[in-house]
This record gives sequence, C-alpha cells and structure tokens, in this order.
Amino acid sequence: MTLANLRRQQAVPLEERVGTPVASPVPRPRGLVSRRVLILGGFWSGLMLALIGVLGPSFDFLYPRRVRGFGGPIPVARTQIPPPGGDPLRNFEGRFWLVHLEPGTTPHGEKTRGGVLALWTKCPHLGCTVPWRPEFNFLGRRGWFRCPCHGSTYTKDGGIRVYGPAPRSMDTFPVEVKEDGSIVVETGPANAEKGSPDNPSRAVKIPGFTV
Ligand code: FES
Repeated sequence: MTLANLRRQQAVPLEERVGTPVASPVPRPRGLVSRRVLILGGFWSGLMLALIGVLGPSFDFLYPRRVRGFGGPIPVARTQIPPPGGDPLRNFEGRFWLVHLEPGTTPHGEKTRGGVLALWTKCPHLGCTVPWRPEFNFLGRRGWFRCPCHGSTYTKDGGIRVYGPAPRSMDTFPVEVKEDGSIVVETGPANAEKGSPDNPSRAVKIPGFTV
C-alpha cells in the first residue's frame, strides 16, 4: 500500500471503515448520584452518628436543667414562717433554719430591723448539721444552735458564733418575699453568704407580721 493510499484510508470515518457505529458515552439519567458521592455521603453520615453517640450523653449530662430541692430556690408558705421571736423552724429540703427576728437590738447587742433569716444548717467548722437546742442553757440564756460535733454554739438571733472552733457564724441564704407573703430561699453552696456578726442585718422584713 502506498503512502497516498494509506492517508486516504485514514481520512475515511471509522464507522465507514469497520462498518459499525462507535458507541458514545451513555449520559447519566437526571436525578441519579454517582457511586463516589454515595460512598462519601455514607462515610460522613456514619461519622456524624458515631460522634453524636459518643458526645451526646456528655452534653445531655452537662445541659443545665431546672434545679429542684437543695441547690435551687425553695418556696416557703407563709404558714411555715415562724412568728417574730418564735422558735426557729427547720426546712429539711432546703437545709436551712428559718428564724424570725424582732426589730431592735438582739439579746446579744446586734442591731436588726427585724425580719426573716435563713441559716444554713451546715456547721462552718467541719460541716456537721447544726441542731436547734431550745433547752440548752448557756451564758445565762436558754435556746441556742449548738453543733454536736465540736460544740460550736450560735445565737438564736442570727446564728452568730459565740463559742467553739467554728471559724465564723452560720452561713445564710438569700430570702425573697413574694406578693402573697410567702418567701423563696435561694439555697446551695453557690448562693450561701458567709456568716458574720452582721447576720441579723440580712434579715428580710415580711409585711403583715405583727411583733
Ligand atoms: S463541725 Fe461543728 S463544731 Fe466542728
């Protein structure tokens, strides 16, 4: 075959030379995704599900919810508030003693405008629960808060330390007065205010109580 014949033959389209049409690429139908996209999608979906499975419980645990009981606000009905000068009433759920001070000067000389004070039952020394001892006689007076563990003794009118190894007076919780005369006590270590001789000045007046 001469060179001229060879060039003439190459110029003829392939279909005519072999007698069959050349297959063109089949276009992908609309809406179908490729296998590569499917595999990648499956991989990332699986990874996300695994991460949610591992981290989900931790986030669920850390998510703050409405705190109930000790550590949150404790409502106290007006009927559960002791009268001014009366014996302290214990709130077990909120772990506090509710004392109602008369206005004026306490028997130990502290000035107070009177009102309600919430004393944390936890002893500031080593954390024992401090009971109210109505019959305990000390310094010529009857009725004290006295810790059973090491004897720290606190006044009825404000939980002020007068004796024992406790480093300070009983800690207090903030008290909020509601319109209906009930109160809400914010409890828990985060809300506690360190006790001091000025505890009686933290008392919150409740309207309607007569001395
Ligand atoms: S724990 Fe109360 S005096 Fe020690």
